[in-house]
Amino acid sequence: MGGVSEPILRAHDLTKVYSVRGTGQTLQAVAGVSLSLARGETLGVVGESGCGKSTLARLLVRLEEPTSGRIEMDGKDITHVRGSDLRTLHRRIQMVFQDPYASLNPRMTIGRALEEVIEVHRLRPSEQWSARARELLNLVGMSPAMARRYPHQLSGGQRQRVGIARALAVEPEVIVLDEPVSALDVSVRSGIMNLLAKLQDELGLAYVFISHDLAMVRHISDRVAVMYLGKIVETGPWEPVSDAPLHPYTLALQQAVPIADPDVEATRQVRTLVGEVPDPAAPPPGCPFHPRCPLAEEICREIPPLLALLSPDHRAACHVAARRVGKPEATIGNQASLEMSR
Ligand SMILES: Nc1ncnc2c1ncn2[C@@H]1O[C@H](COP(=O)(O)OP(=O)(O)OP(=O)(O)O)[C@@H](O)[C@H]1O
Ligand code: SF4
Ligand SMILES: [Mg+2]
Repeated sequence: MGGVSEPILRAHDLTKVYSVRGTGQTLQAVAGVSLSLARGETLGVVGESGCGKSTLARLLVRLEEPTSGRIEMDGKDITHVRGSDLRTLHRRIQMVFQDPYASLNPRMTIGRALEEVIEVHRLRPSEQWSARARELLNLVGMSPAMARRYPHQLSGGQRQRVGIARALAVEPEVIVLDEPVSALDVSVRSGIMNLLAKLQDELGLAYVFISHDLAMVRHISDRVAVMYLGKIVETGPWEPVSDAPLHPYTLALQQAVPIADPDVEATRQVRTLVGEVPDPAAPPPGCPFHPRCPLAEEICREIPPLLALLSPDHRAACHVAARRVGKPEATIGNQASLEMSR
C-alpha cells in the first residue's frame, strides 16, 4: 500500500444533481467533490447513510454521468466517454456492490456469471472461458467446483467473493468497493477484508473503499475522505483523520466507534451524533453540519466553510478548526472563491 506515483484516478469538482420525483425539487447528491487516487493505494470514503457515497462510486466508475465536473484516468478525460470507449474503460476500473445477491443473476451458475464477463469484454477465446472462470474462483479463495452452483446455493460471504471475482475478471487497475462487507455477517467480514488486502498486494490494485464505519476504513486505507451531505468535509492520511480529526463530524464518527476494552468503553464520554442528516433537497445555509454541531457559531450559520489545508496533507472544512490551528482565513477564503463555493 502507499502510492507515491502520479494519480491513476482523479476527480475534480464532481457534482450530481437528481430531481426529486413528484416535487419539482432537485438535490445535489454529490456537491463539488475533488479527489485523487494513486496506483496501488486505498482511499477510504466514509459518511452516514444518504451522504452521497454510492452516487460518488457510480460517477467514478462511470455507471452514471456527472452533472458537472471532470474525471480523469491517467490524465485522460473520461467524464463523458460512451460506447466502446466506456467498455474499454471498464477493463481498467470496476465496482463491487454492497449486495452481491442483487448483482448476480439467480438463474445463472457462478461459472457462467464469470464467463459472461470474459465474453462481453472479449478477454479470451471461448474454449478458455471455463478454465479462466475456475482460475478466478481460486483467486478469491473458492473451490473451482463452486462454478456449478447457483447464487442461492452460496453463503453471503461466498457471493461477495464471486462479486470480487467478477470485478477481477477484466484484470482492472482500480476497484471501487461500495460497502463490500456491510451486508455480511460480522463473522465473515474479516475473511473478505483479508482477501481484499491480499489481492491488492498481489495485483497492485488501487481501491476506493466506501463504508459508513470509520473503524472499517481505518485499517485498510492509506488516506480517508469523510463525506457529509454530498461534500468532502475532511481528508488526509488515515492516521491523523481517524485518530486526531479536525472536523467535529469526523470526531463524532470516531467517538461512535466502540472501544474494545470494556473498562475504557464504560468510562469514556461519547458525544453521539444528534439529529438526522438534513434533507439534501433543502440543505442548511452556511456549514451543512451546523444544525448538529456542538461547536456551531454565528459564522457557521452564514458562511459555508471551504475545504482548506489546515495541517500538512490534512484538509478540513470547519471555521472553528481553522481558528484552532491559527488559520482563521483558510476556510473563509476571499469573496470570489466564496461565491463559487455556494
Ligand atoms: N437516482 C436517484 N434519484 C434521485 N435521488 C437519488 C438517486 N440516487 C440517490 N439519490 C439521493 O441522493 C442522496 C445520496 O444517496 P446515496 O445513495 O449516494 O447515499 P449513500 O451515502 O450511498 O447512502 P447509504 O449509506 O444509505 O448507501 C440521497 O438523498 C438519495 O436519496
Ligand atoms: S464550521 Fe462550524 S458548524 Fe461547521 S463543523 Fe465547524 S464548528 Fe461545526
Ligand atoms: Mg450507498
